[in-house]
Amino acid sequence: MNSIKISPSILSADFSKLGNEIKDLEKAGADLIHIDVMDGHFVPNITIGPEVISKLRKYTSLPFDVHLMISPVHNFIKNFAEAGADIITIHPEATDNLVSSIKEIKSYNKKAGVSLNPETSIENVKPVLNLIDLVLIMSVHPGFGGQKFIESTLEKVRILKKEISEKKLPVKIEIDGGINFQNANKAIKAGVDILVSGTTIFKENSGDLKKNIKLLRTS
Ligand code: DX5
Ligand code: ZN
Repeated sequence: MNSIKISPSILSADFSKLGNEIKDLEKAGADLIHIDVMDGHFVPNITIGPEVISKLRKYTSLPFDVHLMISPVHNFIKNFAEAGADIITIHPEATDNLVSSIKEIKSYNKKAGVSLNPETSIENVKPVLNLIDLVLIMSVHPGFGGQKFIESTLEKVRILKKEISEKKLPVKIEIDGGINFQNANKAIKAGVDILVSGTTIFKENSGDLKKNIKLLRTS
């Protein structure tokens, strides 16, 4: 069993001091920094782009886990790679050619992820499992933090975990949305390797980042 990794989502951070928030997350024991990029078109919310990410890069040596909720995504991959992303995750619905967009990510020596919305079938990712590093299972509808965890999405985790193990692929499973101290363990048992969490990490226990990261990790 490899140990669970925690990727705090800065969507719940104070956007006026993101650099310091990221430093604090590193001190608190985060493994990665999850950065939600939204365009107001693929999802009904707008966040930040590559310029902000490149300015944040100097605040930590932790990997940037960049979740692109933008469409069409293909021509922006280069900008996020150059901005300092380490993992670039895209949604199949956001590109005309998933394989070509994955190859574009890999061409910059970045890890490639594919994200599945709650209603998106795992059949979308099965054919490309041998090309990618990560599957990001959305356990809420993307767009906003603080939503309720959709329990049925764990079934996708179980099926994918089995498939990945049977094929002996080095693909990690990450889950994103509504993760809290009650459901984190269910996700880990289902086969998740990386937990994304915004609201729980930034708001529980009066925002005690260290305590909340530890509680999620050991739940
Ligand atoms: C939702 C984002 C998530 C979200 C997670 O579109 O992809 O990363 O910020 O936040 P919580 O943990 O609040 O659900
Ligand atoms: Zn996300």
